[in-house]
Amino acid sequence: MAGVAKQFLWGAASAAYQVEGGWQDGGRGLCKWDIYTNEERITEKVVGVQHTGNVAINTQDRAQYLKDIGLMRDLGLDAYRFSLSWPRILPEGTGQVNGEGVDYYSRFVDDLLAAGITPLVTLYHWDFPAGLFADGGWHNRASIDWFRDYAAVVFDALGDRVRHFITMNEPFIDIFYMDLIAENMRAGRSEPYRFTSEQYGRQAPAMHNLLLANAETVAEFRRRGQEGMIGIALPLYPTVTLDPEKPANVAAAKLTDGLINRWPLDAVFKGTYPQDAIAALQAENPDFVVPEADMATIRANPVDFLGVNFYSPALVRHDPAGPLGIDRDANPDAIKSFNGPVRPEALHDLLIRIRDEFGNPPVMITENGAGFGDGDEVRDGDLIRDPHRADYIRRHAEATLRARQEGCDIRGYMVWSLFDNFEWIQGYTRRFGMVHVDFDTQERTPKQSFFLYRDLIARHHRDA
Ligand code: NOJ
Repeated sequence: MAGVAKQFLWGAASAAYQVEGGWQDGGRGLCKWDIYTNEERITEKVVGVQHTGNVAINTQDRAQYLKDIGLMRDLGLDAYRFSLSWPRILPEGTGQVNGEGVDYYSRFVDDLLAAGITPLVTLYHWDFPAGLFADGGWHNRASIDWFRDYAAVVFDALGDRVRHFITMNEPFIDIFYMDLIAENMRAGRSEPYRFTSEQYGRQAPAMHNLLLANAETVAEFRRRGQEGMIGIALPLYPTVTLDPEKPANVAAAKLTDGLINRWPLDAVFKGTYPQDAIAALQAENPDFVVPEADMATIRANPVDFLGVNFYSPALVRHDPAGPLGIDRDANPDAIKSFNGPVRPEALHDLLIRIRDEFGNPPVMITENGAGFGDGDEVRDGDLIRDPHRADYIRRHAEATLRARQEGCDIRGYMVWSLFDNFEWIQGYTRRFGMVHVDFDTQERTPKQSFFLYRDLIARHHRDA
């Protein structure tokens, strides 16, 4: 972990497909989201609407992103987390490197550094190259080599200036979308979100491939004596048992924790898999076997830091009809955020748990944020009022700092997101930004949460 200061970084996060646009510009190849959202047979790819990431918020255009960096400076950001589009760098996913794509990211890194902003680079945030997706994507074990070889190209291109790499974002959710897209493309229709036991079983070997690809990439990073740190961004949902006097609910919450939280955490820190979760998955998919040699690779390559994507806890009860007997969708809040109940104390407790159960590793909050729909985002003269988001950010930043004071080795906090952007199967219908984007004109307008975050950062910079 040479060359990394222990300073706390205030930042914001984004992902290539959600913001870049320019889907056919600069020699870029296509990813699975391009072919899905542009598939003409399917008219409602994203819920009830017809949106693509073809233009998104146009950050592939340097003139646009330079203005955006101006807003980052105004906000006082120390760091900006963004992802690289794999097919912008390798149009086919493997083989030929697209020099124009590499130059684009190299210049972006330089422009951030010139503005005094630390780049946090995610190698992969769900935009799997289309051709390799057709070959099975993460279900194909060759994906481990494809990914490590792509990572090596990135280390060559950016490793001299970037000190924080994140291998991948939210592996489990990525496979879920990958399978949803594959299934809908096959059937020529758009099925809404539905998660089944069978799907859990089917996804398990692909999840293993992702964790192995992560380990191989960490190994590649170390083999090169790369300066800096490498981590992974995991979606962590602390579980809360509803009606805990019922043993079936307690068991469902424990299993949920095993599947969502302990599986990737145990893998990247302890080099083990949780037996309860693996047994439940093997009951669904007897073909899911984990070779000991793979575990040895995973064990030999723990990450340098953990990226925590936290939005909400999961309130869990047993439901015989739910996938693996689990219902984790309850949300009793009167004001509902898109990503679940708002409980900042659950973030604090999660950070304490990571300190105590996983050896107090360096942690970066790589995503935290919220959208609330129509009740938030109200125009008031020149201002867009988003009091719920502002309140959410303030309370979660405070929970993070409290855990830090209690000894957790937390290195930074990134809000999701700086700008409204393409929210996957929800398209442009769900806004998460501290800056409003008019998707027709690309006009940016800071919201109330932007000013709240700016004050919060300024106060902490003064006190530091
Ligand atoms: C997690 C994902 O990493 C990101 O892409 C998404 O937009 C946010 N959550 C908000 O749902």
